[in-house]
Amino acid sequence: MLMLLAPSLNRVYAGEAPRLAAAELAVTTGLEVEPVVIAGVDYLRFEADADEVLLRTVAEQSARLGLYDEAAGLLRPVELPKVDLLDEDLVTIPKYPGKTNEQLTRLLLNVTLSQVALPPGPRTVLDPLCGRATTLLQAWRLGHDGAGVEADEKAVEAFAAYLKTYLRRRRLKHSADMTPVRREGKSLGKRFDAEVAVEGRSLSLGIFTGDTRQSAKLWGKRKFDAIVTDAPYGIVHGSVSDVRGGTRKDRSATGLLSDAVPVWAGQLRIGGALGLSWNTLGTPRERLVGILEDAGLTVRDEGPWRRFAHRVDSSVHRDVIVAVREG
Ligand SMILES: C[S@@+](CC[C@H](N)C(=O)[O-])C[C@H]1O[C@@H](n2cnc3c(N)ncnc32)[C@H](O)[C@@H]1O
Repeated sequence: MLMLLAPSLNRVYAGEAPRLAAAELAVTTGLEVEPVVIAGVDYLRFEADADEVLLRTVAEQSARLGLYDEAAGLLRPVELPKVDLLDEDLVTIPKYPGKTNEQLTRLLLNVTLSQVALPPGPRTVLDPLCGRATTLLQAWRLGHDGAGVEADEKAVEAFAAYLKTYLRRRRLKHSADMTPVRREGKSLGKRFDAEVAVEGRSLSLGIFTGDTRQSAKLWGKRKFDAIVTDAPYGIVHGSVSDVRGGTRKDRSATGLLSDAVPVWAGQLRIGGALGLSWNTLGTPRERLVGILEDAGLTVRDEGPWRRFAHRVDSSVHRDVIVAVREG
């Protein structure tokens, strides 16, 4: 079979899209996948029976444009199921500095969810550094519930305003409210909650403002099937660093991750998976593997898992890592 790759991806991955897309398809299907060029166009080639599970997995891929059967040098189009409950513009309309690219977010979500060892069904996905919720909206599109934590209250407010407008304009039945959070008489910030009814399903999303190191306090006893997040890149924009709690010298996210990963690991259900994208120039892969293992997680580190590293620009080399909570 041949999966046709979306051409727009080369803007995101500086020409490395076929390799990343091949790694995504390989880990989500467990198949051998080979990037090929046919008549100047990029495809991924793999051998498989086109059963329901495979077609759904292909349809969900972050880089998928179409699927073809190859027979005697001819390509026969294969119809893919509709997997998205909400349109792509839900995640592409917002534009702001620090936004995680939508395709990378979808890739990270897919590879993380593929490692969740729980009975099938909608998942609960926590993004504990959620910004304006690209991950949570991608989770919604795929029919999962979202939860988040974000230190920047203004980002959460901007997201809340965007989501309300979007759902209203689309005439989707919904609720969306920002409320103050108080515990033991103290103000702890705010909380945004939204629900939408779409195609007979009800999707929920909740975000607390606050420090991600307090995520377990904010979310209480609730456990999640997956934790998916894009860590701060450790870049200083003007006078504002996006890494809270780092020392002046430590502009990388290493300090934040070593504090936060054990908290997040405790919020994962047994059988759940944690997926991170981060800047390897600030935190080498081995360091992050150590942090995840120290938190009792098992890192996926073989074969295609080592093929997600890519250059974003001169100060950001991004990689993706997934670890699971086995017991
Ligand atoms: C790379 S951005 C994630 C962007 C998000 N995926 C999006 O598309 O909007 C990292 C986020 O982590 C937040 N952040 C940094 N340190 C934090 C902390 N200690 N607690 C909570 N959020 C934090 C930043 O404000 C930023 O929004």
